Amino acid sequence: MAVPAGFLVISLLLSCFAATSYGVYFSSLKETLEVTASPTKGQVLKAGDDKITVTWRFNQTYSAGTDSDYKTIKVKLCYAPISQKDRSWRKTVDLLKKDKTCPHKIVARPYTASNNSFTWTVERDIPSAVYFVRAFAVNAEDQQVAYGQTTDAHKSTNLFEVQAITGRHVSLDITSVCFSAFSIVSLAGFFYMEKRKSKASQ
Ligand SMILES: *[C@@H]1O[C@H](CO)[C@@H](O)[C@H](O)[C@H]1NC(C)=O
Ligand SMILES: *[C@@H]1O[C@H](CO)[C@@H](O)[C@H](O)[C@H]1NC(C)=O
Repeated sequence: MAVPAGFLVISLLLSCFAATSYGVYFSSLKETLEVTASPTKGQVLKAGDDKITVTWRFNQTYSAGTDSDYKTIKVKLCYAPISQKDRSWRKTVDLLKKDKTCPHKIVARPYTASNNSFTWTVERDIPSAVYFVRAFAVNAEDQQVAYGQTTDAHKSTNLFEVQAITGRHVSLDITSVCFSAFSIVSLAGFFYMEKRKSKASQ
């Protein structure tokens, strides 16, 4: 019993080691996926309200079988260079493990070569910035093996903007703060009156 358990632990450790020591570089990936997204160039989407429909498929000019190890497609929302400037926490790093270009997950789906589409409501916590959409194909070991994106290699075309919630609902927040302050004051007033009443009746 102890031997298989020990063996299991060792092989688990080994596979963890293999997974962490293997680094995938973005520049080593082929752009075999055709990705489109519904926002038009320069469109401004409101976080929490507006939707993005993403479609993706295998580019048939690559020979059949190129995609044989594609297991899952991970679609992500990515910062355009203009929104990365002076923000090291959004930095592009070729080693994908350290890359911060695409921190916002849109969806992950099992890989199929065509007819893929997903509609996503821009989540409320997405910050104001300029974005594009990128999809990664990952293999059974969860390593990136290919990609596709809605912009060109310089990340300069077909960019769109997200306007964050902050700023839009400020007046509403102020209203609710005033309202709760008002209710605390009136509650205090109510207790004060009650106390006076009971004192007076004594
Ligand atoms: C498919 O790949 C070829 C070769 O890389 C490329 O020239 C072509 O533009 C791609 N098609 C689309 C629609 O992206
Ligand atoms: C694509 O998806 C739609 C809706 O899911 C389906 O009706 C259609 O048959 C699919 N087409 C192909 C070629 O798989």
